[in-house]
Amino acid sequence: MKKITLAIETSCDDTSISILEGVEVISLKTFSQIKENKKFGGVIPEIASRIHSKFIFKIINETLEDSGIDIYKIDQIVVTYGPGLVNTLQVGIIVAKTLALILNKPIYKINHIEAHAYSPFIGKEYNVIPQRAIVLVVSGGHTEIIVKNNWKLKTLGSTRDDAIGEVYDKVAKILKINYPGAPKIDEIANKTFNEVKCPKTNLENYDFSFSGLKTFVFNQSKNKSIKKNELIKGFQNSAIKQLIDKIKKAVNEFEIYDVIIGGGVSANSFLRSELNSIDYINLYLPKIQYTIDNAAMIGYLAVLKINQNLIEKENLEIDAVPKLDL
Ligand code: KG4
Ligand code: ZN
Repeated sequence: MKKITLAIETSCDDTSISILEGVEVISLKTFSQIKENKKFGGVIPEIASRIHSKFIFKIINETLEDSGIDIYKIDQIVVTYGPGLVNTLQVGIIVAKTLALILNKPIYKINHIEAHAYSPFIGKEYNVIPQRAIVLVVSGGHTEIIVKNNWKLKTLGSTRDDAIGEVYDKVAKILKINYPGAPKIDEIANKTFNEVKCPKTNLENYDFSFSGLKTFVFNQSKNKSIKKNELIKGFQNSAIKQLIDKIKKAVNEFEIYDVIIGGGVSANSFLRSELNSIDYINLYLPKIQYTIDNAAMIGYLAVLKINQNLIEKENLEIDAVPKLDL
C-alpha cells in the first residue's frame, strides 16, 4: 500500500501544504503572502510568521478536503527545516510536530534547496532521475549552481549579492511595474525587439553577481530618452545570460549533460527557451506549479528518500536551521 504523506512548507512567504500518495501529488494548496507583505515593502519575518500561523490550519483543512483523504489516514508528516527564515520555519515545524504527536505518526525533515533540485521529477519514481547532473536553483532567495552525484549535492557557486529573483523584484519596483513584476518583465521583454545593452557580469568562478546590473537599470531609469521596454529587454538578457554561461561552463568542465533547474525563476520563459536551444544537454524543468515554493516538492523528496532508506524518522525536537547547507 502506498503511504499517505502530509507535507508542510513555510520557509519564507508561502504557506504551502500538500498531500501525496506514494510519489504522486493528490492535492497542493499554496497561500502566497506577497500581496500582504507588499504593504510592508517586503517580507518582514515577524509579520510573515504571523500570517503563516493565522492561515496554516485553514490551508491544511482545504488541502485535506481537496484530496478527499481523512486526516486519520495520513501515514507520515514531512516539514521543511531550512534554509529560510527562522520565525516562519518554526510555524511549519510546530504544526508538523503537533500533527505527528496527535496522530501518532512519524515525522521527517527536508532541506528546502534540495527539494527544489528534485522538483522536475515530482510524481515520478526514483529511477527516472539522472544520477549525475548540473543543478541550478534560482529563486527569490537563492541563486546556486550545484553538481549532483547520486544523492550528494555540492554547491559550485552562488550569488555574491542579490538572488536573481530578488533582482527581478527590485527592477520591477524601480521601473514601477505592478505585481507580479517578474512575470511582467518576462512578458514585456519577449514582446520587445530592441534592447538597451546592459553590463554582463562574468565572474571567473561559479559565483553570480547581479548588483551591478541592478544599479545600471536604476541609473538608466532616470534617463528620459531610454525606452522602458528596451531597458527591460536588456536587463532580462543580461541576467539570464549570466545563468546560461555558468551552466555551459559547468556542463563542459564536468562533462555532465543532464541539467536540472528549479525555483521560482525557472518559470522564466527566456531562461527556458535559452536552455532548450542548447542541443547537447538533457534538460529537466519543473511544471510551472512546482517552480515556486511548494510543499509537494518537500513531501516528494521525503518519499523518495524513505523508499531508498536514506532518511531517518525524527523525534519531536526538530529545530529550524535558517542557514542550512546542502
Ligand atoms: O522559489 P520562490 O517561490 O521563492 C523563493 O524561494 O524565494 O521564487 C520566487 C521568485 C520571485 O523573486 C519572483 O520574482 C521570481 O521567483 N519569478 C520570476 C518569474 N516568476 C517568478 N523571475 C523571473 N521570471 C519569471 N517569469
Ligand atoms: Zn525556494
